[in-house]
Parts: sequence; structure tokens; C-alpha cells
Amino acid sequence: MIILDTLKPEYALQVAEIEKACFSLPWSEDAFMSEIDNPLATYVVAVEDETVLGFAGVHIIAGEGYITNIAVCETARRCGIGEMMLKRIIDICKSKCTFVTLEVRVSNTSAISLYEKLGFETLGIRKNFYEKPTEDAVIMTLNFNREESDNDAV
Ligand SMILES: CC(C)(COP(=O)(O)OP(=O)(O)OC[C@H]1O[C@@H](n2cnc3c(N)ncnc32)[C@H](O)[C@@H]1OP(=O)(O)O)[C@@H](O)C(=O)NCCC(=O)NCCS
Repeated sequence: MIILDTLKPEYALQVAEIEKACFSLPWSEDAFMSEIDNPLATYVVAVEDETVLGFAGVHIIAGEGYITNIAVCETARRCGIGEMMLKRIIDICKSKCTFVTLEVRVSNTSAISLYEKLGFETLGIRKNFYEKPTEDAVIMTLNFNREESDNDAV
């Protein structure tokens, strides 16, 4: 059974290994360890029998959510894990943020499809945002209707 857990020291090495397999400038195990103590950071880790299958993170700063990274190990893709983790991140942000946003390589059609499926909209392009290789980023944002939810709460 796959469970969603928070980022814990015992997951940091496996998370860093997935990160390394997915990105050309990966965060290190130490970087993920620091995120555990970062009060602005929230991570969701998908775990099956103590094996990490994926992770997703967000920094929440002054009521704005910035997705830091999301990845699923190659052998566990297309099983709904990415969607499950991102939905959890969105739920966490919904109560605390006016929006959640991210950057994604223009060529990363699978990630873009995931974000569109969960309601993210393209806001623009950051030219040459990425290195190794140099590539533009698409800025994608999901706005939460805070006014409506504030009214609901009254
Ligand atoms: C993007 C990523 C996290 C998706 O994770 P996943 O667990 O495979 O995705 P899911 O199985 O939950 O798929 C959910 C939706 O994402 C989209 N999607 C995922 N993989 C896709 C693919 N290969 N092609 C097209 N759409 C895809 C689809 O909309 C899918 O919905 P559907 O199954 O109803 O078609 C995964 O491909 C990954 O780790 N990629 C490498 C790291 C990366 O690029 N991260 C994003 C950085 S911005």
C-alpha cells in the first residue's frame, strides 16, 4: 500500500536519489535534510514498504505557495502517484495561500499535463530560466478563490 508521509530524515537519501535521476542540477541529500527544519517548507513523500516512490514540496511564503520540486521514480510513473502528491500539496496550500505556482521546462509535457489536469493555468514564460540544458520555463499557477472561501467561513 502506498502512503503519503511527511519528509523525515530516513527518507532524505532515497528522495535525493530520485531527484538525481530526474534533474540535471539535483538537490543533495543535505539540502533535503535542511528542508525538514525549514519552517516555510512542506514535503509530501509517497512510500511503499519503506521504499520512497516519489516526493513533492512547497514553500509557503506570506500566503503564496511555491512548488519546489515534484518527482516520481521512473518505475512507478503513470500510476497516479504524482497526481496524489500534488493534490495533497494543493489541499495544504488551499487553507494558507491565495495561489500556488511553479516553473516547468517548456519541453516537459508530462508534468505540464499533470498541472493542467489539476487546474494550473499558464501565466507566462521565463526566458532561459533553466540550465543544463538552457531552456525556457512555463510559469503555471493555481489561484484559490479566497474571497469566496472567506465568505463561506462567515
Ligand atoms: C511529472 C511526474 C511527476 C508525473 O508523475 P506520475 O506519477 O507519473 O503522474 P500520474 O500517474 O499521477 O499522472 C497524472 C496525470 O499527469 C499527466 N501525465 C503524467 N505522465 C504523463 C505522460 N508521460 N504523458 C502525458 N501526460 C502525463 C496526465 O495528465 C496524467 O493524468 P491521466 O493519467 O489521467 O492521463 C513524473 O513524470 C516525473 O517524476 N517526471 C520527472 C520529474 C519532473 O519532470 N518533475 C516536474 C518538474 S517541474
